[in-house]
This record gives sequence, C-alpha cells and structure tokens, in this order.
Amino acid sequence: MVAAISTAPCTIARVKGLILSGGKGTRLRPITHTSAKQLVPIANKPILFYAIEAVVAAGITDIGIITGETGAEVEAAAGDGSRFGAHLTYIPQAAPLGLAHAVLSARAFLGADSFVMYLGDNLIRHGIVPIVESFKETTPDALILLARVPEPQHFGVAELSDGKVVRLVEKPAHPVSDLALVGVYLFNHTVFDAIDSIEYSARGELEITDAIQKMIDGGRRVQSHLITEPHEAMVATWKDTGRLEDMLEANRIVLDDLPAHIDGTVGDDVRLHGKVIVQSGATLRNCTVRGPAIIGENTVIDDAYIGPYTSIYYGCTVRRAEIEHSIVLENSVIDDVDGRIESSLIGKECRIGRSPLRPRTIKLMVGDHSRVELR
Ligand code: G1P
Repeated sequence: MVAAISTAPCTIARVKGLILSGGKGTRLRPITHTSAKQLVPIANKPILFYAIEAVVAAGITDIGIITGETGAEVEAAAGDGSRFGAHLTYIPQAAPLGLAHAVLSARAFLGADSFVMYLGDNLIRHGIVPIVESFKETTPDALILLARVPEPQHFGVAELSDGKVVRLVEKPAHPVSDLALVGVYLFNHTVFDAIDSIEYSARGELEITDAIQKMIDGGRRVQSHLITEPHEAMVATWKDTGRLEDMLEANRIVLDDLPAHIDGTVGDDVRLHGKVIVQSGATLRNCTVRGPAIIGENTVIDDAYIGPYTSIYYGCTVRRAEIEHSIVLENSVIDDVDGRIESSLIGKECRIGRSPLRPRTIKLMVGDHSRVELR
C-alpha cells in the first residue's frame, strides 16, 4: 500500500486570536478611571467589539482576551463570544508589563499554534482579512503591519531596506522613518523563543517590538505589510485610539461608513439631514439632527440640535442644548445649556446643565484628570 502524498501547498491551517484588553488607558483619563478604555464606544459600539469582529471576519474564532484590572467589566461586556460567533477565553495578565509579557501570559492558551495579536484599542477600518490570508499562504515567522504617521516617536518605528524590515525601535526620540507599527501582529510559535531572550525595556515592559527585532537578528522571516492607501484613506484606515483626538477621529471614520437607519421614534417636528442612525427605543422631538450621527437606545433628544459626527450612547437625554463632533457615554443628561458643545467626550451618567440660582457662576464637579474648556 502506498501512502497518499499531499500535494497541497504548505499553509497554516489553524490560527488563533489574541486580543489585548488590559492596560491602564492613562491618556483617556478621567473616562478610564472607572472604565476599560477598550469599552469606550465608537459610533455606539465598544472599540473592543470592532477588534473581535475583525478577527472573526478573518475566520478566527478561538480567541483569547488578555485582561487587566478591568477584566470583570470586559468579560461582562463581551461574554462567552457567542454573539460574535466566536469562543472567547479570558486570560488575566498579572500586571501591565508589556505586549510581549501579554503573549507570555497566553502561552498555555496559544500552545504551538500561530496567532494574530490585535491591540484592543486599535481600529483597522477595512479589517484584516487579506493580511491573515497572506500570513497563511506565505507562512513567515512574523507578519507586522506598518502605516505612515506624522508623529512616529509615539510608536514602534520600522526601518526598511530593500522593502525588508531591518530594524525596529520602540518609541525612538529620533525616529529614522515615519513607519509606525500598527497594533496587529501575526506570529508562529517561534515568537516565544524571541520573547524568552529579551530584557525589560527602560519603561519597564517586555516589548513585542524588541522580540520582533530578536526574530530579525536570529534570521527568522519577518514580513511587513504597509498600509498604502491614499492619504485620507490611510489616516482613516488605522487609528491608535488612546487619546481624545483619536477617539473623535475614529468616531468620524466609523460614522462615515455606517448606513442611515431608523429604529426609534422620530416626531413630525424633527429635521434629519444626512446619514442619521436612531437606535431602538430612542425618542426624537422638536430637534435637528445633522448626520453622520447616531442616537442610542432609549435616548431622548428634545428641543435640541445634534450636529455632524456625534454619537450619543444609550439612556441619555439631550434637551434644550446643542452638541456636535462629540461622544456622549451612557445615561448622561445634557439639559438647558447655552452655546454649542463640541469636540467633547462626556462620560457615563454625567449631568451637564444650568443652575437656576444666583449668582450665575460656573459650578463644576469633574473627576481627576478632567479637562474643561470655557468660552
Ligand atoms: C504599542 C506598541 C507600539 C505600537 C503601538 C500601536 O504602543 O508598543 O510599538 O506602535 O502599540 O498602537 P503602546 O500602546 O504601548 O503605546
């Protein structure tokens, strides 16, 4: 008897997902004093859910979620993964000691399988399907994503020579290029050898950037994929959503892509312009909404103006007020405000309004690390 010899090309059959949802989110304080930054909504959906959906869309359903202090909240939000058609395994990281440390924390979960690591606070507009396909077909030891950015010193920065990655430096003071590492990486099991041989960095973390450099130095095949769309699309394609400005831009990008849809109740005295999404149970009365905008479940908009690029999450009330280019989290009330609120991120269960009492002063109760700009 002759054993059948497979003539199929050598591809990777099994790829797991590893989504990082720990970290402190210091750049998004005060919102992240009380919440995981990965659960901050973009167009009324937690950023983390876009990551899970992107990984699932690439055919990967066995996904580990690395969690930190906010693990219980993350787990409560994403559940067992069935709503995404995935199976989620929660993996606590003992301390936020870096991306490579997170990979080590997932060693038992990953076993000898290849995996895509996706930073849960990043947003890749067009997903990762072709990138995962390319990894499966060309079977490198690592595949990294790069994008040109205006301020590369805030990222891992790559130096290419003849199209090949020759050097990676984490947050260099004097970047040699404007090619930043995007928060999606694909690896096979050889990444563990590299991680085992790196030291903690000056910021006290085990850097995945250093581990990839080890792979390059050790002769491993490290491929890169440069996101090279025309400028607008490139900015739109990838965001590191750690900062308010980035959050607002990510919100703009996602709202631009969503089709109009009305589920809630829209009164006859409501003027809707452009793409507006009204989620179920929302009530709109005597107002103008200029899209792209999304009004969340059971939110009331009354005698108000909602301008472009605004996301109002669920259970909110906006009355006698004007707001645009902003994100409002759940169960907040904005009532009777003079002037237009813009470019703002308002947390959960906030109350913004006017006091009937004299003197007409400004009264604030704002959390630590808040920012308030007055006219
Ligand atoms: C991390 C990585 C960095 C990468 C960035 C992408 O940075 O260390 O190399 O460019 O994610 O979002 P951090 O989130 O730790 O600032």
